[in-house]
Amino acid sequence: MNAPVIPPSPSREEYARDYAAALAANGDETIFDRVEPIGLFVEWLAEAGAHEVNDSNAMTLSTVDADGMPDARIVLLKDVDGRGFTFYSNRESAKGLELDARPVAALTFHWKSLRRQVRVRGQVQPVSKEEADAYFASRARESRVGAWASDQSRPLDTRATLEGAVARESARFEGDEVPRPERWTGWRVTPQSVEFWRDRPFRLHDRLRFMRDGDAWTRQRLWP
Ligand SMILES: Cc1cc2nc3c(=O)[nH]c(=O)nc-3n(C[C@H](O)[C@H](O)[C@H](O)COP(=O)(O)O)c2cc1C
Repeated sequence: MNAPVIPPSPSREEYARDYAAALAANGDETIFDRVEPIGLFVEWLAEAGAHEVNDSNAMTLSTVDADGMPDARIVLLKDVDGRGFTFYSNRESAKGLELDARPVAALTFHWKSLRRQVRVRGQVQPVSKEEADAYFASRARESRVGAWASDQSRPLDTRATLEGAVARESARFEGDEVPRPERWTGWRVTPQSVEFWRDRPFRLHDRLRFMRDGDAWTRQRLWP
């Protein structure tokens, strides 16, 4: 087996060389004056969209199963506003069953190009049928057919079985609209806390955590 390639911790010289750029990117102290997190999140997401090579809306969704065992996977953020953070999936998938058993989740965004992280924790609710229908209708026809074909998270013997299921569903909907399968829906995480983290030289990072307090937010600066 080859030795694992683990990047070394940056040297003093590397930090010194990159210091001005790091400060320009992550040195704006005014974020600590913010009174709520969603506006700042939307700004960071837009910056990530301009810098990341792909999937700037990707986030790790952590859930807990009925036995208290944690689970995590990446999904795509599809909406965010004062109500919370929305994603879509299959209700019968592992995540769907876990959210049924325990409707709580944590979300983690990591934007490598910006050296930033955002963490969200909160209760989870399914979105309305109308909201799920509207988002489903916006997807490519092939993706909508795929949602009917996929038994997400169940064992699959071969790729040919998957392609056969897609071909069958495609033929079934030939010439028709592809409606949303009942099992395919969205969930919204209502944030209880939102933490912003950004890289600063020598691991002296910034952390800013907002906690919901009724209709308002309190905030704390945290040690890195
Ligand atoms: C970049 C990326 C984006 C993804 N987006 C989604 C998504 O929005 N919804 C989804 O169900 N799965 C998405 N997946 C696949 C999930 O990570 C996961 O494999 C799948 O949902 C099954 O998870 P589960 O068995 O824990 O339910 C994405 C994977 C990656 C790497």
